Amino acid sequence: MKPSTIAIDGPAASGKSTIGYHLSQYLDYLYLDTGVLYRAVTWAAINRHIATDDEAAITQLARRLNVEVLAPTIDDSRQYTVCIAEQDITWAIRSAEVTGNVSQVSAYPGVRDALTQRMRQIARAGQVIMVGRDIGTVVLPDADLKLYIVATPEERAHRRYLEMREQGKDVTYEEVLASIRRRDELDSSRAAAPLRAAEDAVTVDTTACSIEEMLHMVERIVDNPPPPGSIVTN
Ligand code: DC
Repeated sequence: MKPSTIAIDGPAASGKSTIGYHLSQYLDYLYLDTGVLYRAVTWAAINRHIATDDEAAITQLARRLNVEVLAPTIDDSRQYTVCIAEQDITWAIRSAEVTGNVSQVSAYPGVRDALTQRMRQIARAGQVIMVGRDIGTVVLPDADLKLYIVATPEERAHRRYLEMREQGKDVTYEEVLASIRRRDELDSSRAAAPLRAAEDAVTVDTTACSIEEMLHMVERIVDNPPPPGSIVTN
């Protein structure tokens, strides 16, 4: 039997969103990239001039904010559409300002509680692929299959750099690598639900893979899951 609830975690730019989206198409499952919820709260805080170090106000905001994640409404390479009060913020939540502040916002335990509850509601119906940092460890500890996607910081920076250049962004490889290292450090050292592999996760090392190889590798894993705790490389 195919796993019904699939948790995918890993550091920034490890390939987890590409993998999650691909598997959702492959299996015809619902896909939720949970980083979007943390980014939407961060975007709304900036937009409403709430200081991102005001933990109480940000926590209130996370509890009240109605973030909608819908199937793509525009054909512009997006995997989903994100809305707040009917405003399309799909690309706005990818800005450097949101990216620079989201680790701080996502470290607040009250914010994590509010968003974790929402994620669990969404997963209740099954046939879902959820991507994030703590899905296998905290959000869905009973997931049928847990994948932990890794790649070296240099490889991840290289991928993100190419992606950003393609989008016309003016960045250097060194800046991208520094930003990735900073986020790795913040995401894995925070007290609340730090980034780490669940003990029963299958670790997938994508460092030496092309995108096609990576996607074939995870298709094989969902078709025939290896034992929990194993490490799969190309
Ligand atoms: O995957 P991403 O870059 O869009 O995630 C944005 C931020 O949200 C990232 O700094 C870590 C945080 N995050 C989290 O703490 N837990 C999740 N389940 C998903 C994202």
